[in-house]
Amino acid sequence: MDKFVIKGGQRLTGEIFVSGAKNAAVAIIPAVILADEPCILENVPKISDVSISLKILHEMGAEVEMLNKTTFRIDASGLKNYMVPYEMARKMRASYYFIGACMGKFKKAKVSMPGGCPLGDRPIDQHLKAFSALGATCEIDHGMVNVSADELIGSQIYLDVVSVGATINAILASVKAQGLTIIENAAKEPHIVDLANFLNSMGADIMGAGTDVIKVRGVSYLHGTTYSIIPDQIEAGTYMIAAAATHGDVMIRNVIPKHLESITAKLEKIGVNIEEYDDSVRVWVDKPLVKTSVKTMPHPGFPTDMQPQIATLLTLASGTSIVTEGIWDNRFRYVEELRRMGADISVDGKVAVIEGTGKLMGAPVKACDLRAGAALIIAGLAATGITEIEDIYHIERGYEDMDEKLRGIGADIEKKYFPGEPVAKSS
Ligand code: EPU
Repeated sequence: MDKFVIKGGQRLTGEIFVSGAKNAAVAIIPAVILADEPCILENVPKISDVSISLKILHEMGAEVEMLNKTTFRIDASGLKNYMVPYEMARKMRASYYFIGACMGKFKKAKVSMPGGCPLGDRPIDQHLKAFSALGATCEIDHGMVNVSADELIGSQIYLDVVSVGATINAILASVKAQGLTIIENAAKEPHIVDLANFLNSMGADIMGAGTDVIKVRGVSYLHGTTYSIIPDQIEAGTYMIAAAATHGDVMIRNVIPKHLESITAKLEKIGVNIEEYDDSVRVWVDKPLVKTSVKTMPHPGFPTDMQPQIATLLTLASGTSIVTEGIWDNRFRYVEELRRMGADISVDGKVAVIEGTGKLMGAPVKACDLRAGAALIIAGLAATGITEIEDIYHIERGYEDMDEKLRGIGADIEKKYFPGEPVAKSS
């Protein structure tokens, strides 16, 4: 079993480069199914969720060619297959984007229902509501989501909850539908704008992405494109917090500072210094950190995917901080692990109360999901002594070469293989 072994207490300094955004890539890769010509995707992050998406496309019949470490040429124009079986879909939650993409291309899709999730209940009712509004019938049959329509007709789709996934699936399914689709109460995350930009670069007609009303006028043909995926806002935010937690001084390169505004604002309240440049941010700490309150919300609010990392930072600040989770039912499972490192955190439902002690100590811990794993790395970097993190496959789903990148700014972190222990399965 692979573990990260961290010797804490090193101050992080230097510069670190952010990769392409996971949550944009896992939407844009299935979206290539809609293209009637080959596409080239650049700035594709080297993470396991991307490998799984590319593998699904390949197994469905697309030609996938790696041009260099971050660039892929994908030809899905001759694809005939609209089915993603359980064995492939279960490996990644975002496999549900293959439903929207297959709907857009074939007017039908048969994709295994996404499996359980450590973050709590993850229904897809709003995705199905969007497909139904476009004229499709949807049924769940023996674990498969079967969606089909004779014709997809543009329509008004009102999402009852602000959902990133349902917004993306509604766009994918409507981009080649007849007439105008209006998606109301849409999510506004940067990866939604990135997906719309990608599709528009192929000739789609999507307006309003990044606001809560998106208008999609159906087109019949999408030509090929060369498109570069945006930098990962959450990877950038994670390194900002790693720099702050070690009282370091780090230049974080390949970012879009606007996407980091809610994170920057909170970090400044805690006492972290941040300087923005065109495509970089410098983060440094020269005074004690102080408490704050954080509530996670859909974009442009503070992202839930940064909640475990900022909570970890607040254990190192003075005073009592309150962190409220506004999106997921079960995103405090990492707290047990942080307590093993000396954190004083109590959780009541979706609210965590953190008594900042200013210090953490190394311990053996387990990553229970992707962002929880990132938080434990930050904790390990700031702690005294050795931290060993198990189940790092969660971290590798969404962070490219995290150990290597952190070593580049002075962290003492190694990935070690411990023989004789069971090999963890992917979730
Ligand atoms: N929801 C419903 N019905 C639906 C869909 C969602 O009730 O049909 C609820 C969810 O239960 C949740 C809320 O709506 O309470 C928001 O869920 P959303 O659909 O926005 O989440 P998602 O699309 O499944 C994406 C990211 C998550 C991120 C959330 C929120 C991808 C692949 N995943 O999930 O990323 O936490 O948006 O921003 O884009 C991560 O990267 O670590 C991660 C978990």
